[in-house]
Amino acid sequence: MGSRLETDFLIVGAGIAGLRAAIELAGAGRVLVVTKEQLGESNTNYAQGGIAVALGGEEDVELHLDDTTRAGDGLVNKTAAAILVEEGPLRVEELLEWGTRFDREHGELMLTREGAHSRSRILHANGDATGAEIGRSLLQHARSIPNITLAEWRTCEELITDGDTVIGLVLVTRDGERQTVSARAVLLASGGAGQVYSDTTNPAVATGDGIAMAWRAGSEIADMEFYQFHPTALSLPGVPRFLLSEALRGEGAWLRNSRQERFMERYHLLLELAPRDIVARAITREGIGASPGDTLPVYLDMRQVTGLNLNQRFPGISSFLREHGLELGRDLIPVRPAAHYLMGGVKTDVHGRTSLKRLYAAGEVACTGVHGANRLASNSLLEGLVFGARAAAEMREETSFSARMEALPEHTLPEYTPVRRTSTTSPQPSPHTPPVADLAASIQHTMWVKAGLLRDRQGLEGAAEDLRDIAAAIPRTNTRPAIELCSLHAVATLIVRSALAREESRGAHYRNDFPQRDDVTFQKHSVVSGDGRVQFVEE
Ligand code: SIN
Repeated sequence: MGSRLETDFLIVGAGIAGLRAAIELAGAGRVLVVTKEQLGESNTNYAQGGIAVALGGEEDVELHLDDTTRAGDGLVNKTAAAILVEEGPLRVEELLEWGTRFDREHGELMLTREGAHSRSRILHANGDATGAEIGRSLLQHARSIPNITLAEWRTCEELITDGDTVIGLVLVTRDGERQTVSARAVLLASGGAGQVYSDTTNPAVATGDGIAMAWRAGSEIADMEFYQFHPTALSLPGVPRFLLSEALRGEGAWLRNSRQERFMERYHLLLELAPRDIVARAITREGIGASPGDTLPVYLDMRQVTGLNLNQRFPGISSFLREHGLELGRDLIPVRPAAHYLMGGVKTDVHGRTSLKRLYAAGEVACTGVHGANRLASNSLLEGLVFGARAAAEMREETSFSARMEALPEHTLPEYTPVRRTSTTSPQPSPHTPPVADLAASIQHTMWVKAGLLRDRQGLEGAAEDLRDIAAAIPRTNTRPAIELCSLHAVATLIVRSALAREESRGAHYRNDFPQRDDVTFQKHSVVSGDGRVQFVEE
């Protein structure tokens, strides 16, 4: 039996949503923030381009709402999107007060533009390290508040429920000790799941643990078929899919195919600044070679950009490229899409409430429907701030009458049952089970090939079959790699089931066998319930 902790508010994840929520909650009780690695290691830290915000008054806010809605391809939850753009400026003002240093020119905040934005409204920091700067300032602020405890190297294993109420969770420390934490309310702010695909811009920690835990506990999960693939990750053999920010195209970069033609005019009027899903599919199509499996290179070209010091404007990107012998203003940079951001997640209302009592979610792990089928560039950091603060306000409100801490009896430390609800059979690992890393790689490969940018029934059914086979081999241990493997398996299962059910193409979800958007049947959100059934529901 491991140790037992108690807190008022438990937050899983120390990215932008988790830290913003912690700051909001600190006046109402003890806040424990747990994170899987060292503080700072989250998707937030790797966000390059910036944070979109309408600082120019009412008309600007309206335009931001229009752009967000249009990019989301008919599926944006309008209430959530209105909240995002209206509350965004206030949340960004707070960041400035707490010491976030956005880039300025002659004292004025600098603004850039990215895909599908009708004007320049994206703040950036240190050129191309916006998330890291916001994370730094939020962390510094959170550290100055005595009620907040930040705990590193904790892998969350399972939520603990009492009926349909979440009363805490089980986590595993770096030393392998299992701990139970009881709390008056739990916030999932655990970020995305890019590691479910072999090609991703996300760090290794992005394994979808929050979504998997919530699903296993019976929470509804929504819109999982909508995985955003960033169009331009670096494509060099043996080199990670390093993000090449959309801001490069915002500052004038072009895309060229293997014949060095600028091709985006064949796909969208906005050319390189078309919505992300359209650019990503265009690059994929231009990269298809003559025979099956053949790929052709596609390039980002900044050689024509003048009047901008590229090394100064994009210091992080320039220095990474230089390590690989490439210069932004001199060379064609080989690119390809990579999994970047999950629009779906734990279904919440605009207050972060999930379908389980006392369980909340905010940021990438959550699905308010704010991004619809395709997120507008640089809206994700804003989402974390706005909905992190809102979820925290709701947690404070809803728990203010229930100050009594639920005692967790000894026997509630649950048995570890990792693949519960991800398979219809009860898997029995064979004595020749492959290593966890190989199983994770199989999931990633299957998802990339069969449930990636371009999908069809045959491929998705093949992926479902692969996932059933892999489920049978998942070990019943609770090491961090094994827990993450279960998370990847659950997330992959949710994506495949939802993608099979949506027989149309919309936003980031493209079905070769159903290439049209079908508003009559599918202008709805997919919801997977605890038992694994997929339903489509109106907003
Ligand atoms: C980028 O810099 O292109 C990423 C920003 C985002 O994902 O919105």
